[in-house]
Parts: sequence; structure tokens; C-alpha cells
Amino acid sequence: MSGTATEAASPAEVSAGRAPIVQVKGLSKRFKRESGAITAAVDDISLEVAAGEFVVLLGPSGCGKTTLLRMLAGLEVPDGGSIAIRGRTVYDAAAKVSVPTERRSISMVFQSYALWPHMTVAQNIAYPLNRSGKRLGKAEIARQVERVLELVRIPDLAQQYPNQMSGGQQQRVALARALVSGSDLVLFDEPLSNVDAQVRERLRYELLDIQRELGFAAVYVTHDQSEAMGLANRIAVMGAGRIRQIASPRETYENPVSRYVANFVGVSNEEPGTVVSLDGDVATLHTATGELQGRVTGGAVAVGDEATLVWRPEHATVSVQEPTDARFRFPARVEALLFEGAHNEVVLDVGGRRARAWAHVTAALDAGSTVWVALNPAYARVLKD
Ligand SMILES: Nc1ncnc2c1ncn2[C@@H]1O[C@H](COP(=O)(O)OP(=O)(O)OP(=O)(O)O)[C@@H](O)[C@H]1O
Ligand SMILES: [Mg+2]
Repeated sequence: MSGTATEAASPAEVSAGRAPIVQVKGLSKRFKRESGAITAAVDDISLEVAAGEFVVLLGPSGCGKTTLLRMLAGLEVPDGGSIAIRGRTVYDAAAKVSVPTERRSISMVFQSYALWPHMTVAQNIAYPLNRSGKRLGKAEIARQVERVLELVRIPDLAQQYPNQMSGGQQQRVALARALVSGSDLVLFDEPLSNVDAQVRERLRYELLDIQRELGFAAVYVTHDQSEAMGLANRIAVMGAGRIRQIASPRETYENPVSRYVANFVGVSNEEPGTVVSLDGDVATLHTATGELQGRVTGGAVAVGDEATLVWRPEHATVSVQEPTDARFRFPARVEALLFEGAHNEVVLDVGGRRARAWAHVTAALDAGSTVWVALNPAYARVLKD
């Protein structure tokens, strides 16, 4: 990097000089089921999290999210690979290193709030401080508890017991308890899935505010894609124990590397076909609805390969008249029109396959009628897998 000493370093430059806060290499965990069958819950995962970064693990039920998180925390012993936290190895199968949970200085927030029912909010939050071995005075503990209660916006609830509060408030207490020790690494396992949609949304933005203010790195598990999009610096999309793609929310959405990722992050429509020509990373496909074009963002394709054209609902133009100036267009039948406020969602039958597109609310489209769909090749994607 060139640059004079007076120039402020960019966040990338600052973090470039530091070890990643989490460094996972080739991590695996197998479980034996009651039937005797072996499942690879986590299968050869490598992952780095930078200081202050918010990484979301996103994937369907059973894909290994919790298992990966628990191995980071030291609550589950891996079968192979290594984990370093703040540049220090805390687990290495080959070197037989395994540092216990309490010496990893990690905070964790669970889906179930896991609060002590017989302790007040203040006592619950003070619990990790009392166990930290730092021997803080009573006044200091009270000060720190008060500070995190302010942070999670329930300063008046210090003397309540958990069963005297709403689910959202209990989750705030669980968050406060995780934050009170001031760790620079906090793990979250679906912390918002037990609260209702409105509270969840508000807590999501408050959590992001708090994370920005305190600057800790977060590894956050969810199977909710909009939660992942709203929180993450990078999303790791997981499937069957592996990371299928790790990138910014925007990159994951716009340039998925596989149909699996495209389908998991937002709505995607698919047209299968055969590659008939290639120009750099732009592929033209022969499909049942004619020739369609898009950019290859996953594995390389060759002429003659089977591939799938993937497009998003907001990238189509739906019209009654045939748009003869659009090169990539096809007819479709309107199955249903769903009013969504800002737009209509048009459910289409494209040669027997269902697709979804957005249309302007003023567009005069009727269920049962035939319309034209035009695709912009700049937004369509061609994926082999
Ligand atoms: N203690 C265990 N014994 C046996 N199998 C287990 C155990 N824990 C997890 N598994 C299996 O490992 C796989 C991954 O489980 P994990 O809990 O990590 O999934 P997850 O992605 O967190 O799912 P969810 O979204 O439902 O919480 C699953 O197939 C699960 O059945
Ligand atoms: Mg889980």
C-alpha cells in the first residue's frame, strides 16, 4: 500500500495488519445417529472472521450451523481441523490442542434465552462478571450492569425476574449478559427466532447499532434470509455441512455461484437449457422458451453444456404488448396477481414452469391472460450447478 503517514488507514488496511479474530481450517464434525448411520454435520469448513466483522451463517435446518458455532465456543469437540481465536490456536486435532470454553473469552447468545429464573435481571447479567475471576467490586459490577441495561434499552427492569418480562425483554437481557464481559467476539444462535416479527425487526436494528458502537466481531446463525441480508458484512450460505458461498449480501444475491445459493437468498426463477454460445462470461442458452442470455457467475460452462438461466422477479419487464425491441423475451400466462403495495407480484406459467415477476401496480394485467416477459441479460445469471 502506498500512502503517507498522515493518511488515515481504511478499515481494510487496519484489519489487514491484524490476525483474523477467528480462523477455522478444515473443520469437521461427524455424529453417529441412533440408527448407527454417520452424519457429517460439519464437513471440512474453512472460514476467517476479521476483527469487528459481522458474519452470518445462513442455511436450512440441519445444515450444521449450530454445530459449527458450538465448536467455535468449545462446547463441541471437532473430529478434525483447527480453530484459532485472536491468532491463538484453541483447537487443533493434529497437535492435540483443545482449550476449554471458559478460556476462549467468547460470549454467546442462544435461541432459548437461558436466563436463571431465580435471579433478577441484574443478577443474571452480573453472573459472567462474578465468574470471570477479575474480582470486581460491588459498585463496579453495578456500574457495568447499568451500562449494558442502558445499551439494550431496558434500564428500568434491573430488579425484575425473567418470568415477569416479555420474550423480547428476556432476549434483551440475554444480549446484555453476553455483552457485559466486553468480549470482542460474540456468537449468536438464532437469538431472535422466539420473538414476534415486529420485535424481531426492531431488535435486529438495535443489535446492529450496538455492534457498531462496541465494535465486537459477530458470528450469527439464522435461517432467515432477510435477517442475514440486514445484518451481515458477509453471509456464509451453508448446505449439508459445507459453506457453499461466502460473500457480501449484495454479491451473494447478485452473483450466486449455484442454484442452491440463488434459491436460498431471495426468490429466483429458472429456465433450464443448453449453452449455444459464449462471449467471455456471457453465455447464451437455448431453452424451451427460446434463446436467453446471462452472465456466468458459478463454475465455468462450455458450449454444449446443460445450464440454468436464473433471474429475479424484479429484473423482468412484464407487458401486454410484445416488446419487439427486447431481444430476450418470451410469452407467459398470468396465473395470479398478488398486490404487495409497492408492486404487483405476477405469478406466471412459463411453458409449464412457474415463475414470479414484479410489475407496476398500474400495469393492466389480468389473471388468465397471456403476457410478455423481457429479461435484461445484464441481470440474468447462468449457473451450471
Ligand atoms: N448430538 C447430536 N447427535 C447426533 N446428531 C446430531 C447431534 N447434534 C446435531 N446432530 C446432527 O447434525 C446435523 C447438524 O445439526 P445442527 O444442529 O448443527 O444444524 P442447524 O443447522 O443448527 O439446524 P437448525 O436450523 O435446525 O438449528 C443434523 O443432521 C443433526 O441431526
Ligand atoms: Mg441450530
